[in-house]
Amino acid sequence: MLGKRSSAKAATPEVQAGIIGPQHVAIIMDGNGRWAQKKGKIRTFGHKAGVESVRAVVRFARRTGIKSLTLFAFSSENWKRPEEEVSVLMELFNLVLNSEAKRLHKNGVRLKVIGDVDAFDGKLVEKIRKAEAMTESNDDLVLNIAANYGGRWDIVNAAKCVAQAVSNGELQREDITEDVFNSYTSTASLPELDLLIRTGGEHRISNFLLWQCAYAELYFTDVLWPDFSEEVFQQAVDDYNVRQRRFGLTGEQITTVQS
Ligand code: IPE
Ligand code: IPE
Ligand code: MG
Repeated sequence: MLGKRSSAKAATPEVQAGIIGPQHVAIIMDGNGRWAQKKGKIRTFGHKAGVESVRAVVRFARRTGIKSLTLFAFSSENWKRPEEEVSVLMELFNLVLNSEAKRLHKNGVRLKVIGDVDAFDGKLVEKIRKAEAMTESNDDLVLNIAANYGGRWDIVNAAKCVAQAVSNGELQREDITEDVFNSYTSTASLPELDLLIRTGGEHRISNFLLWQCAYAELYFTDVLWPDFSEEVFQQAVDDYNVRQRRFGLTGEQITTVQS
């Protein structure tokens, strides 16, 4: 099953030809600070440079028919960084929303922000909600920005919603299945996560999509985020496309189903 998902919707000639790549890709955009420091600059210089890589991955996703791209922009733990760095990151988020929201809309991209955004400044939250509403009916690509996001937060939040639904009588305890639980997570409306990429050389998940990673393929690269490009993204997808996803079955079972 070379990275194929039978439920994938045809989008590009490659998809129509049956060469279906990952439909949902997530990226841990790591290495901005080290990239800047290597150049003798302050860490925030790297965050600013990283915006260009975000544009590149959105371009790549649109061009290749990826339906859903989830980017880790700010973790629930990143608040612990120096105040100055956190405030530059918030400012950057604001600026990027101002400069990119209309362009994303024009290009058929639906923007969603996942995470505990209510912790942000009220004006920023308003801007996020406005951009989400403007792009709501676009369906070429869903761009999910994970901001003040934590995988454990996502699971606890879903558990709270499930508990609420049970206490309201909308849901019976015995009807709680994995699919039902999933429908309360922040990625409920998205396809299963196929591929998780982490740049910057670390081999860890850092509290990203814990629930969603269950059967995702993992790809780690030493490339620092500001150096990430469409070419490196292509290498990750090529690597994914030759893997055999077995989901617990044997390799023989998979090849029998395919033939
Ligand atoms: C990732 O780059 C961006 C954020 C976490 C916001 P880092 O800032 O973590 O860069 P390194 O890992 O310190 O190089
Ligand atoms: C993960 O990177 C968070 C983002 C990329 C937004 P970190 O740099 O925060 O992760 P750790 O601290 O190295 O695990
Ligand atoms: Mg880092």
